[in-house]
Amino acid sequence: MSLVCLGSAHGSPGVTTTALALAATWPEHRRCLLVEADPFGGVIAARYGLGDTPGLSSLAAVGRRGLDDDVVWQHAQQLPGGVRVLVGPASADEAHAVLRDLAGALAAWSAAHIAVDVIVDCGRLASGFPAAGPLLGAGALMVLTRSSLDQLRPAAHRVGSLRHSGVDASLLLVGDQPYGVRDVTSALGVPVAGVIAWDPRAGAVLTGTHGAVRDLRRSPLVRSVGTLADRLAIPATGPDVGEDLDPAPVIRVAEVAREAGS
Ligand SMILES: Nc1ncnc2c1ncn2[C@@H]1O[C@H](COP(=O)(O)OP(=O)(O)O)[C@@H](O)[C@H]1O
Ligand SMILES: [Mg+2]
Repeated sequence: MSLVCLGSAHGSPGVTTTALALAATWPEHRRCLLVEADPFGGVIAARYGLGDTPGLSSLAAVGRRGLDDDVVWQHAQQLPGGVRVLVGPASADEAHAVLRDLAGALAAWSAAHIAVDVIVDCGRLASGFPAAGPLLGAGALMVLTRSSLDQLRPAAHRVGSLRHSGVDASLLLVGDQPYGVRDVTSALGVPVAGVIAWDPRAGAVLTGTHGAVRDLRRSPLVRSVGTLADRLAIPATGPDVGEDLDPAPVIRVAEVAREAGS
């Protein structure tokens, strides 16, 4: 399995959009689940005209003490295009409570299911011990930031403190103007996992604001996320859906960061 967490430190850099695009472009031979674990409340159900249930709330009602093999899939919904998602509750209070109860069990479920890759939208990463804490420590974490000082600096601080606590954290740039990977790594001293193209048109389609879905596939945003998905997923030689093999080595975000910075 591969557990990839996405979050932010400041503003709204595009975490939900990128997580969704990552799940949509994840290599087809791998089974992928998107988890909306934003403690400030979920938006995916509203954006895609789905109900809040089934989702994290209904899963929490049955899974506090541990998650059976199939129970997670029973609470997932399917987005147009086929992405399977555990939507988060819209209310921040409920999201917080549900994540406090469920994050540990979900991290354990993910670790036990080597043929499933889990992408987690962790939303804003609050300081201290976040509700989704057990998920952050269980995989690779990318802190998204636009290429502006007001987002870069808090994001770099968050990455630094998470790495200090042992989390495999790095930055993921949304756009590379005016500051690109080399500027950021040399000035801020934290690893950068890659760059997602700055692409307001595709962003608007993915957030359901306007635009045609057929334009998405060749968009800079989806192409850049697809490249990242290929690098993060277990290589094609790894276990396929349904195969019960030893876990193949996951390409860790740290390795991706070294490549991006080289
Ligand atoms: N790569 C991108 N390029 C341009 N705009 C984007 C990109 N990703 C997201 N957006 C836009 O940014 C806004 C916030 O996106 P969202 O994914 O909800 O952010 P977050 O989850 O970080 O709050 C939306 O209007 C979305 O269309
Ligand atoms: Mg979001």
